[in-house]
Amino acid sequence: MRIDIVTIFPEYFAALDISLLGKARRTGLLDVHVHDLRDWTHDRHRTVDDTPYGGGPGMVMKPDPWGEALDTIAPPSTAPCAATGGRSGAVPRLIIPTPSGRPFTQELAARYAAEPWLLFACGRYEGIDSRVVDEARTRMPVDEVSLGDFVLAGGEVAVLVMIEAVGRLLPGVLGNADSVSDDSFAPGAMESLLEGPVYTKPQVWRERPVPDVLLSGHHGEIARWRRDEALRRTAKHRPDLLVHLARGGLDDRDRAV
Ligand code: ADE
Repeated sequence: MRIDIVTIFPEYFAALDISLLGKARRTGLLDVHVHDLRDWTHDRHRTVDDTPYGGGPGMVMKPDPWGEALDTIAPPSTAPCAATGGRSGAVPRLIIPTPSGRPFTQELAARYAAEPWLLFACGRYEGIDSRVVDEARTRMPVDEVSLGDFVLAGGEVAVLVMIEAVGRLLPGVLGNADSVSDDSFAPGAMESLLEGPVYTKPQVWRERPVPDVLLSGHHGEIARWRRDEALRRTAKHRPDLLVHLARGGLDDRDRAV
């Protein structure tokens, strides 16, 4: 998968050199290109923002550097092509993190993991001049995506989160393929229950023993215990998820938990 990132803070993305994603880059599974938006400015101060039309606080990112950046990374071409719905050649999916976007979910991460090319545009300040998105939509698919109901200072951290969620789903990135299918929110993973508690050695730590059932070797009972714990944790932290499950996904033992 190819990933392009446009930002005024390329330094944020040093994190993509380490751990799983760093390895995925080194082995060629991930081809990441980080671009400094200021490379597409032409004034002495390398200006990327200006005051908002209509007034109000803060600054808005100017359309010119963004337009040039997108044109350079994904050049508009002239010959239309059926595979891209009338657009021409290979185009990336443009993803813009913003608190006003659609929610980022595991399902969206899985859909992005199936794409060959993602282009992330990191906004700062009050956001990017809206004409940039409108114009980009005429020649590539564009998603405005939110990580949740909170406001970050800019899109960089949101993009790191999305790249990690997508990257770990790429075939070959995780050592053990089961780690993905067992995730909370993975399709079919206990129908979206939160994962319960986990333990490793030593068997007793600070006078706290590992639950007996996990040492029993009885796979049926272990699976049942894990489901009970997942149900309890979900009821406590995310009762909204149980509502979906209640529509046909609960057995009699579940109801007792
Ligand atoms: N940029 C600022 N806040 C954000 C959020 N909640 N999600 C995605 N991008 C953002």
